[in-house]
Amino acid sequence: MSRELLTAYELVGGYGTIDILHGVSLNVGAGEIVTVIGPNGAGKSTAFKTIVGFLRPKSGRVVFNGEEITGMRPDLVLRRGLAYVPQGRLVFPQMTVLENLEMGAYTVTEQARIRTALARAYELFPILFERRRQKAGTLSGGEQQMLAIGRALMTAPRLILLDEPSLGLSPKFVTLIFDKLAEMRRAGYTLMLVEQNAARALALADRAYALELGRNRFEGPGTALLADPEVKRLYLGA
Ligand SMILES: Nc1ncnc2c1ncn2[C@@H]1O[C@H](COP(=O)(O)OP(=O)(O)O)[C@@H](O)[C@H]1O
Ligand SMILES: [Mg+2]
Repeated sequence: MSRELLTAYELVGGYGTIDILHGVSLNVGAGEIVTVIGPNGAGKSTAFKTIVGFLRPKSGRVVFNGEEITGMRPDLVLRRGLAYVPQGRLVFPQMTVLENLEMGAYTVTEQARIRTALARAYELFPILFERRRQKAGTLSGGEQQMLAIGRALMTAPRLILLDEPSLGLSPKFVTLIFDKLAEMRRAGYTLMLVEQNAARALALADRAYALELGRNRFEGPGTALLADPEVKRLYLGA
């Protein structure tokens, strides 16, 4: 059994007085790749935002690396080693690739740690090294997604939450992003990702969850969900 790294337990909450999550529980063990699937509006992004502190749950708990982080500010959550890449490839278009990566390290003060993290990001994404002096706004969508992930790596996080990394990309870049996620898996990164490319994401995952209407609906090994007739019918268009 892998060591429990993140436990989100029975999260209830949403935006203002409107509850979107009605008791969502998600766990990630160190070294695991965990996939979250579910229809549009199921609350997947809301769950991630609640875990990393952009939204405060009405009830439920988030424990990360043995420490309670429920309702903690996002920058403090990040400092504890939990990074988050929101939906939509949010890079700073007027800044260079290198400047974007350096921004990712804003919580890190030691230069040696920043250099090591930068080298690791470039190792995973050589294209970012090639384009390091180029403005991020001139990159393709797929390259911007790699930059968004690379930026999250700059704090050397213990866990990265990725919200829809392949959304809106051309098929070629969807394949490239999934190849990179597989490479991250082999390199020992711990990831939890939301994906609408459910079949590919389940194939990649050690474990997976399906959410529906703000609740857990299915959970199990990625391959088990992939083979489940009900999951196939509901989420895999089979
Ligand atoms: N900023 C917001 N303010 C109010 N409601 C929101 C906001 N963002 C999302 N919602 C609502 O929360 C529900 C769940 O959204 P979301 O978590 O983004 O779903 P998913 O990521 O699973 O597609 C949707 O009904 C959506 O309209
Ligand atoms: Mg979403």
